[in-house]
This record gives sequence, C-alpha cells and structure tokens, in this order.
Amino acid sequence: MGMEWTARLAVGIDDIDAQHRELFRRVNGLVTAMGERRGREELAEVVAFLRAYVDVHFEAEARLMARTRYPGRAFHAAEHAHFRAQVEEVASRIAADGAESHHAVKLAGLLCEWLRQHVLLTDRQLADHVRAEDLLDDRWRGGGEG
Ligand SMILES: [Fe+2]
Repeated sequence: MGMEWTARLAVGIDDIDAQHRELFRRVNGLVTAMGERRGREELAEVVAFLRAYVDVHFEAEARLMARTRYPGRAFHAAEHAHFRAQVEEVASRIAADGAESHHAVKLAGLLCEWLRQHVLLTDRQLADHVRAEDLLDDRWRGGGEG
C-alpha cells in the first residue's frame, strides 16, 4: 500500500520535489505504523503535518502557477481545495471520535490516492509547463540572469 519515492517521480523543480518527497515519507510512515498496529498513535501527528503541509505546499504551487500564467490553474487549484477539504473532514472526525484505527485506514487511502492522482499526474503537468516557461524566459533574457 505504501509507495516508494524514485527519481521517476521527480518533477524537476527542487522545492516541489522536496515537499513531495516529504509527503511520500509521511504516507509510508503512516502505512508502516498501521502494519505495526501503531496507526492510532501516528495519526494525530500525520494530520497535524498535513494541515501545515497543504498550506505551504499549495501556496508554493499557486505562486508557480501565477508566475507562469499556467492555463490549467483553475483545475489544479480545485484539486487542492478538494484535498484540503478531505483532510479537514478526517481531522474533524478524529476530533469527534478520537484516533480510531479506521480513521488511519481512511487517511492512508486518501493519501495514496492523492499521490497517484495528483502528484503523479496533475503536478507533473504543471511542472512540465513551468520548466518550458522557464526555458523560454532564459532564452528571452539571453541566459537566465535576473
Ligand atoms: Fe498540486
């Protein structure tokens, strides 16, 4: 159920790749914890991480999309908003019921789906666009100064 980070997953933008790698690490940590029946203990920490993560990471991607006038940014931002809402929903259920193990299962499923659908597809499309724009900019400026 966990996913390995490999070079194949890199989008080629350092900040974004570092943030994605951290997310993979957290997802694998949660899955491992569940396998060792420590899922409930790990849960609160992962949820706290995710809430902070989405703020920083989605903001970084939003800046990239604005800077490069990315045509797909409404769709991309909608996926971010949907994921943020899903994380908040799990967080509020945990707040209501406590760290039940079915919440850990639900969250791990959500995260694996997110890695597959968004990080591997939607983020990759954005990264391809950003790299192409930056290449054009560098040529326009005659070598990437400024
Ligand atoms: Fe994204």
